[in-house]
Amino acid sequence: MTDRTKTSRIPGFHKKSPKERLDLVADFAGLDGETVGHLSDMGNLDPHLADHLIENVIATMNVPVGIATNMRIDGEDVLIPMATEESSVVAAVCNAARQCYDSGGFTTSMSGSLMIAQIQLVGASAPHEARIRILERRDEIKEICDACDPVLVKLGGGFRDLEVRIVDSLGGPMVVTHLIVDTRDAMGANAVNTMAEKLAPHVQEWTGGRVYLRILSNLADRRLARARATWTAEAIGGAEVRDGIVSAYHFAHADPYRAATHNKGIMNGISAVVLATGNDTRAIEAGAHAYAARDGHYGSLTRWEVTREGHLAGTIEVPMAVGLVGGATKLHPTARANLRILGATSADRLARIIAAVGLAQNFSALKALATTGIQKGHMALHAQNIAMMAGAVGEEIDRVAAIMVERGTVRVDVAEAELRRLRG
Ligand code: MEV
Repeated sequence: MTDRTKTSRIPGFHKKSPKERLDLVADFAGLDGETVGHLSDMGNLDPHLADHLIENVIATMNVPVGIATNMRIDGEDVLIPMATEESSVVAAVCNAARQCYDSGGFTTSMSGSLMIAQIQLVGASAPHEARIRILERRDEIKEICDACDPVLVKLGGGFRDLEVRIVDSLGGPMVVTHLIVDTRDAMGANAVNTMAEKLAPHVQEWTGGRVYLRILSNLADRRLARARATWTAEAIGGAEVRDGIVSAYHFAHADPYRAATHNKGIMNGISAVVLATGNDTRAIEAGAHAYAARDGHYGSLTRWEVTREGHLAGTIEVPMAVGLVGGATKLHPTARANLRILGATSADRLARIIAAVGLAQNFSALKALATTGIQKGHMALHAQNIAMMAGAVGEEIDRVAAIMVERGTVRVDVAEAELRRLRG
């Protein structure tokens, strides 16, 4: 039976302190003292800062940060912090990087740091004429946009280009203006959204239409990060393994059901670094998947080929709108520390490192899938998690996990039985 005295209507909830809110939530959900004590421990994130990062804060949630070793990117060795709850993700990057370290590691590049803001105009009686009217105002538009962010302009960024598209929609033709803006070391959402909002009334006035949306596009296809690496056939276990990886790519290229999983693996690596550096994981994920479907068919973000010498060549190209300034990147102390570990002094370098991690991740997933399967590698860590769920502590965790892996049965009931046996 539902408890009708419980209400989610809590006037002034947002004005309360995290502690006061937690007490209300504990009351609502019937939390015990131990759970409340656990939630009120905010670890290494200042409660005051947490309370300002988002709304209605009651707690923080720790995610492990692991370091990917063996990475050599553009001739420089880097240690890469990755924040993820998924086992095997960090190990996958370390393994892939070790196997291409001697053949030079990763080489990266970037198409630019241009973001796109969209202005949606509807109801223009002559959309093609409206489009030309907007394009005629390029200089004025540049002035309006650049005046929104003089600091960005001083840093070498600002308005770069204008594009006006006619988009056929269910509601008739829309005139969609794209502001193309160099946002330098910022992710750029705030900068371009401000510009789009400032320009919108002018667009209405010039065309006689009605503006609705004014917002960036996460399909940041003018901010593509690229990475490539070569693995010799010997380093990865022979020509059969190499050909299995290439065939796995062909599968993902041909079949969206496989491509979704293939790209999910890539995003395991990418999102972990994006999160560790306080960047927006959802923006990067949306951009990556939209880019993977850019020609109307959802496919792979990576490509795998065999070189003339018989080596395996992997490449990745993915939108990478990450920044070093603004938002959690600057405010979150762990993000700041992680950026120091990475030594990335520009958003461009950070984006390129992240692309290399995505490629490394994909290499390891495809290699495992094309050979032994992923369960073998996964099982060791998974078994440890199951052992902990069964109550194992300290050395018991490894011992119980090892027994389960050896038997090939990783289950909580088995772990519990093994634990009872160990404890006599
Ligand atoms: C699991 O999180 C990721 C993989 O499924 C990726 C893939 O299948 O390529 C292993």
